[in-house]
Amino acid sequence: MDIIPFITVVVSMLVPSFQASMVVDSILQSNSSVSDSMRIVSKGGSFELGFFSPGNSGKHYLGIWYKNIPIQTVVWVANRVNPINDSSGTATLTLNTTGSLVLTQNGTLVWYSTPLKQVQNPVAELLDSGNLVVRDEKDDDPEAYLWQSFDYPSDTMLPEMKLGYDLRTGLNRRLTSWKTPEDPSPGDFSLTLTHRNYPEFCIMKEETEFFRNGPWNGVGFSGSPELKQNYVFDYEFVSTRNETYYRYTLKNSSVITRYMINRTQQAMIRYVWLKGEENWKMYTKKPSDYCDQYKLCGRNGKCIITESPPCQCLKGFVPSSPQKWNSVDWSDGCVRNKPLNCSEKKTDKFIKLEGLKVPETTHSWLDETMNLAQCREKCLENCSCTAYTNSDIRGAGSGCVLWFGDLIDIRSYASGGQDLYVRMPASEFESGNNKKLIMIVAITTAVILCMLFVGGCVINKVCRKRIEKSKNANVEIQNNERDYIDLPLFDLPTIEQATENFAEKNKIGQGGFGPVYWGKLLNGQEIAVKKLSRISELGLIEFKNEVKFIVKLQHRNLVKLLGYCIQEQEKLLVYEYMPNGSLDSFIFDETKKKLLDWFKRFHIIMGTARGLLYLHQDSRLRIIHRDLKASNILLDDKLIPKISDFGLAKNFGEEEIQGNTRRIMGTYGYMAPEYAADGLYSVKSDVFSYGILVLEIISGKKNRGFYVEDSKHNLIGHAWILWKEGRILELIDKNIEGTCNVSEILRCIHVSLLCVQQHPEDRPTIASAVWMLGSEVELPEPKQPGFFHGMDSVEPHTSSSQKQPSSINEVTMTLLEPR
Ligand SMILES: *[C@@H]1O[C@H](CO)[C@@H](O)[C@H](O)[C@H]1NC(C)=O
Ligand SMILES: *[C@@H]1O[C@H](CO)[C@@H](O)[C@H](O)[C@H]1NC(C)=O
Ligand SMILES: *[C@@H]1O[C@H](CO)[C@@H](O)[C@H](O)[C@H]1NC(C)=O
Ligand SMILES: *[C@@H]1O[C@H](CO)[C@@H](O)[C@H](O)[C@H]1NC(C)=O
Ligand SMILES: *[C@@H]1O[C@H](CO)[C@@H](O)[C@H](O)[C@H]1NC(C)=O
Ligand SMILES: *[C@@H]1O[C@H](CO)[C@@H](O)[C@H](O)[C@H]1NC(C)=O
Ligand SMILES: *[C@@H]1O[C@H](CO)[C@@H](O)[C@H](O)[C@H]1NC(C)=O
Ligand SMILES: *[C@@H]1O[C@H](CO)[C@@H](O)[C@H](O)[C@H]1NC(C)=O
Ligand SMILES: *[C@@H]1O[C@H](CO)[C@@H](O)[C@H](O)[C@H]1NC(C)=O
Repeated sequence: MDIIPFITVVVSMLVPSFQASMVVDSILQSNSSVSDSMRIVSKGGSFELGFFSPGNSGKHYLGIWYKNIPIQTVVWVANRVNPINDSSGTATLTLNTTGSLVLTQNGTLVWYSTPLKQVQNPVAELLDSGNLVVRDEKDDDPEAYLWQSFDYPSDTMLPEMKLGYDLRTGLNRRLTSWKTPEDPSPGDFSLTLTHRNYPEFCIMKEETEFFRNGPWNGVGFSGSPELKQNYVFDYEFVSTRNETYYRYTLKNSSVITRYMINRTQQAMIRYVWLKGEENWKMYTKKPSDYCDQYKLCGRNGKCIITESPPCQCLKGFVPSSPQKWNSVDWSDGCVRNKPLNCSEKKTDKFIKLEGLKVPETTHSWLDETMNLAQCREKCLENCSCTAYTNSDIRGAGSGCVLWFGDLIDIRSYASGGQDLYVRMPASEFESGNNKKLIMIVAITTAVILCMLFVGGCVINKVCRKRIEKSKNANVEIQNNERDYIDLPLFDLPTIEQATENFAEKNKIGQGGFGPVYWGKLLNGQEIAVKKLSRISELGLIEFKNEVKFIVKLQHRNLVKLLGYCIQEQEKLLVYEYMPNGSLDSFIFDETKKKLLDWFKRFHIIMGTARGLLYLHQDSRLRIIHRDLKASNILLDDKLIPKISDFGLAKNFGEEEIQGNTRRIMGTYGYMAPEYAADGLYSVKSDVFSYGILVLEIISGKKNRGFYVEDSKHNLIGHAWILWKEGRILELIDKNIEGTCNVSEILRCIHVSLLCVQQHPEDRPTIASAVWMLGSEVELPEPKQPGFFHGMDSVEPHTSSSQKQPSSINEVTMTLLEPR
């Protein structure tokens, strides 16, 4: 009786297993035997269990893969180490009466699972989570599973799976890579939670550390500040007396995501399945840069990715082998400038270092109940304690972790890092202060010398003007009576010479109110000259006043106005020349858009926001741009975005509201609803345009003239539909897929949807948009955006028959368009 199989599944290995066939219920509970190729499908149809043969290996494995994904993606393998080598005979999976799953071929044992205890009526079930469990027929409490495949992961971590250890059973669930893409047997690459006082996840390569994800700090892992609140999954790290594990769960079960370790890529990677594209998209990858390389900078060194070379000694330390260090071999690391002396331990002090990934925790000590002050005392007591900090950085911080000996594998982050208090002998502190003092004296001297030197350049008129201007900047802003003479004034012959008499070949753009020319001054400086033909009726005084006003607006993300020129009927504005032209010439051009990876686009998104923020509030004069669009974002040689045409809108724009026709500035496709319809503008209408711009940068498509088959929607409408259907990743320009950080992109899309809300009061200010883009705060859900409906309603003033994607249609009412 004992020996009678509870359920038997027979698979003919002659049938290529993926052409199948017969589907068995998710629950195995009857003495059934299937003679053809067999699959067990989970109840909701998400996962499938069966045999597969990777690549051309000719070997067969029992595994679990996604049922609804056309690319075979195996998430778990039973007989990893013992493949079925030939397809003759039959393989049989049996759940025997003591609750073991037993895989045999021709009666020979291939693999089996070990249940922990005896049971009455075991059943095996493939759950919709991808977990194959053996449980008592009447008990489906997860805590009571007799056995589960989630406890024996292969290379993939699925949602709800725990990664880490269970101290009650001694089980350590870790991910182990496949040996090769054709061989699922355990490779030498694994992700494991190390047993340490302050535990941390590490990637091990051949038993040695390869990458350290760092300990959990209450918010995330110290080595992965990019793990943040996101739209796809929630995550938690649980540490109790019984078990310590990391787990993530889906926010919306219709999203498919997996986290896996891959030996070929030498990384742990999160993928998200893109339903529209039928493909896996990389979401995050770790290690992600040079500084993630384990112990790159040796002991007591830190890695700063933006520095060259990236390694530096911690404060108070010097290279232990200066020669090696200077020949960029940092492996020996750093030693103390002044050694600690144990008999003076009580007088030691601590230097606070900020923004770090904390050191390796092999030699650490943890007490979650202590506060920072107690932690410091604790560290002072023991002279081999070299550093301390809070173990949990939530709120004001809590808990205590101490390090002993050398501090290893530290890196510095631009944002999101932690504080670390490093022990120093009191003497180091004193000399440190002296050094600081000397530095201050040195800097002051340098500044004075520099000023003297600058003073010497008075022969240069421009230079003098600059100095005066910066001296008087604050006064000037309020002084309307100020003489315009000290503005950079170019004379017409200079400009004519520079632009070769406004030669047609030098024409680089045509704004609504006049052409823009490239030019080169005699001193070699390149300029962009705007010829304001259409506003020639503007009086001389007003024109000068406007120029004075614009010239004061100076920001890294604004195009700089160099000067102006008035002569006879000509009114010219002279701008710095941007060799890379405007953003639209990149993002809407099939070839050039490839030059802008996600990293560059993100910087353009952020830079533009900062420029706009300056206009809206930091410049002290609230400037509403009124015509923000891709062609008004110019890129310098480093692809730093510079907003152009600012200031003009507010000032010259008002001049346009005259006579019977009240003309609305701006460009259809970027205009906020209240502006397009009623001519009402505010900073929030700029925010609307900014939202459109971000969507365009991410999608590489124009809002105006956007056209998808079977869709009446514009880009906003399209984005909104994708958002609602949870397919927003489909919006992303294919050209940046490989490079993008999906959580960053999702945040940008989310913020842009908030920016394009119908009602101005629902839109954030640009200040809060900047803040939202750069932080991890939970964002409000967007409502249906403005101009959600089809093209027709976007173009209240134009013919509704224009549906082709075309730039000719672009009705621009831009006054000026410098390039
Ligand atoms: C199990 O199934 C096999 C073949 O279908 C049958 O020969 C056997 O008697 C069954 N055993 C029980 C206990 O039902
Ligand atoms: C398949 O071959 C390998 C290597 O020859 C061997 O270790 C393994 O046991 C074989 N598998 C089976 C099921 O016989
Ligand atoms: C399985 O059995 C078949 C027929 O009985 C035989 O031809 C084959 O060699 C056997 N395979 C193994 C691996 O023992
Ligand atoms: C079930 O299979 C396991 C593993 O092969 C074995 O140890 C156990 O004795 C089997 N139980 C029965 C009743 O055959
Ligand atoms: C690992 O990554 C490589 C390269 O992208 C890929 O070809 C391979 O299939 C991956 N391995 C597994 C087990 O997914
Ligand atoms: C630890 O496990 C024991 C026995 O399994 C259980 O009684 C106890 O509640 C668990 N403690 C925690 C903190 O989970
Ligand atoms: C350590 O400090 C003690 C007391 O101040 C002093 O006597 C001793 O020489 C110091 N040791 C070293 C190695 O500097
Ligand atoms: C200092 O800490 C180390 C590491 O935890 C420990 O081995 C040593 O005993 C401690 N020394 C004292 C005096 O407590
Ligand atoms: C999950 O996503 C689907 C479409 O992808 C959507 O219909 C559903 O409303 C979402 N569920 C929740 C709870 O957000």
